[in-house]
Amino acid sequence: MTAPTVPDDLWKRLTSTVGLVSVRCGAITNVMAAEWSYFVNKAPLYAAVVLGPRAATGALIAEAGEFALTLCSEDQAELADFAGAFSVADVDKTGSELIEFGAPRAIGSPWVAGGLLAAECVVRETVRFPGHTMYAGEVVAAHLPEGSPRPLVKHGAMYGLGEPVRRAAVAATAQLLPGGVLRVAATGPAGDGDARWRIGLVSEDGAVEPLGEHASTAHGDVLVDLPVPSRPALERPAGRRVVVERDGAKPGYARITRPSRSPR
Ligand SMILES: Cc1cc2nc3c(=O)[nH]c(=O)nc-3n(C[C@H](O)[C@H](O)[C@H](O)COP(=O)(O)O)c2cc1C
Repeated sequence: MTAPTVPDDLWKRLTSTVGLVSVRCGAITNVMAAEWSYFVNKAPLYAAVVLGPRAATGALIAEAGEFALTLCSEDQAELADFAGAFSVADVDKTGSELIEFGAPRAIGSPWVAGGLLAAECVVRETVRFPGHTMYAGEVVAAHLPEGSPRPLVKHGAMYGLGEPVRRAAVAATAQLLPGGVLRVAATGPAGDGDARWRIGLVSEDGAVEPLGEHASTAHGDVLVDLPVPSRPALERPAGRRVVVERDGAKPGYARITRPSRSPR
């Protein structure tokens, strides 16, 4: 048996907003590009940057105990490319006129202006992975631009954000519960017509047994418990499917599952 292989560039399939990490440590101020920049906790809000061994910024963050993170707007592609091409170990990047620093309110490191947001962060957790290190910082101050710039997105190459994806179909699941109850959950676009959900049991030959029309939850989805209508459906659920329909959307089909136990 051959050993499973993991492509070297698998990580390039990830999509994220490009970050600019800035840090002041003693007499040194630096800016680097970091596409592995995320929020990792909501309350308190933590932002994390994941840095490889080549990034000198890691040692600066470790010493300063802080960093500022700007999530780039699509106008900052040149700056992101530049800040990611050179190291502070070789050249002071802060001479670029593309970098406009904002004065920090809560930490000593300046933040890069022109992004979707800038967050001043105090390091709370440092996680060392085999190659990279994650610095997770509590956001202690934030800076927002006027208006709503569009994000600079990394997905292998750098992109602007496209149009919102239009959902065209219902997505559904169906679970057989003890006591002959069928729990059906579905999401889907409302369309212009009747917003209610029509649920049916589809037999192996394609015949549909209607299981009624149902109202949406407060979130616009559906989650209902239905009595199973016929004995064969109970005995051989594997050969059957559930169909969920809504006006203006393609129907969604679900296999009927029968988990041995529920998570709660
Ligand atoms: C768009 C872009 C995104 C990048 N994202 C990361 C990243 O998430 N983590 C990382 O370690 N390096 C990343 N890099 C590479 C660093 O920015 C690069 O190694 C840089 O020279 C480090 O600068 P420093 O040595 O001054 O810290 C990225 C580069 C580019 C152009």
